Amino acid sequence: MPAPFLYWSNKETAFKEAEKAPITKVSIPKGNVLVEGDNLEVMKLMCLSSERKVKLVYFDPPFMFRNLELEWLSWIKSKEKPSREDWFTYIYSRLLLARKILSEDGAIFASIGFKENHTLRVMMDEIFGKENFVQQITVRSGTSGLRAKKIPIETVEYLLIYAKNINSVKLEGFKGKDKNAFVEPFLESIWQGEEVRYDKGVQELKDIFKGEQVFGPVEPVGLIKRMMKFFPSKKYTILDVFAGSGTTAQAVLELNKEDGGSRNFILIQRSVKLPAKSIGETKGFNNIFEITRERIRYVIEKTGETFKIIKI
Ligand SMILES: C[S@@+](CC[C@H](N)C(=O)[O-])C[C@H]1O[C@@H](n2cnc3c(N)ncnc32)[C@H](O)[C@@H]1O
Repeated sequence: MPAPFLYWSNKETAFKEAEKAPITKVSIPKGNVLVEGDNLEVMKLMCLSSERKVKLVYFDPPFMFRNLELEWLSWIKSKEKPSREDWFTYIYSRLLLARKILSEDGAIFASIGFKENHTLRVMMDEIFGKENFVQQITVRSGTSGLRAKKIPIETVEYLLIYAKNINSVKLEGFKGKDKNAFVEPFLESIWQGEEVRYDKGVQELKDIFKGEQVFGPVEPVGLIKRMMKFFPSKKYTILDVFAGSGTTAQAVLELNKEDGGSRNFILIQRSVKLPAKSIGETKGFNNIFEITRERIRYVIEKTGETFKIIKI
């Protein structure tokens, strides 16, 4: 039996969720698109059409342990507090679909914290194949204080990169795998500096929303640009499955402007209600989707590009 595999009690639910036919029949248009809806349903629709393959999937899910993120379990309505196993099912079903959407020369980049990077990696080995593992990058994303003791601790997160097909993917500096090498000489395995830090991401968001942090923490634009730059091509589609504040759209638009590229984005975000008295809510936003939409509207205005909004 190929190993290792990750087992949990209701794992078959993940396959069932991914295989169920989509409820709607909306097609995803060409060009830049922001989709309001559940990413499971949207990815199913994307699987139906072979027209729109994606070269880069960015996968930045709720990391599981933050209370605010309990909203991700739309499909377990009866549960107040989802279990770790529920999180596995939720992630696994979405990874199955993300793999289907990737083009043969595409790759997925998944952000994850230190508590579940080991389980996510086993899941991805299983779904994408261990042979398609490209790199795990440690991102030095910031510092936070251990509240009780006031000790500043470094926060890191990880980027797990898998190719759809390691023999077809073209990434800057990646010459394929050498079976005899101990260390595969490829991407730097630690990313650090201002451009990859959360506080930079928060500042970029504040610059758009009149100094207010209406959502977050968010990824910085520079982190996503760095991922995109691995692909030598400047013309391809990026899918951000968990759009949040829309950082990826800003990164695509800025990078196109910088290097004359014509990349497109597809962003998916559910219209999740913002908690009462959160900054976003007090600034007049009803849900996260409205923040995503407003950020894209703001950044796209100066570029001459356009985007469509659809609701699933
Ligand atoms: C960790 S945040 C992403 C942050 C984003 N990278 C940024 O820079 O702003 C995850 C986002 O995914 C959204 N989300 C969670 N589950 C979802 C689902 N099933 N479908 C669509 N969006 C979802 C959450 O509402 C949240 O906005």
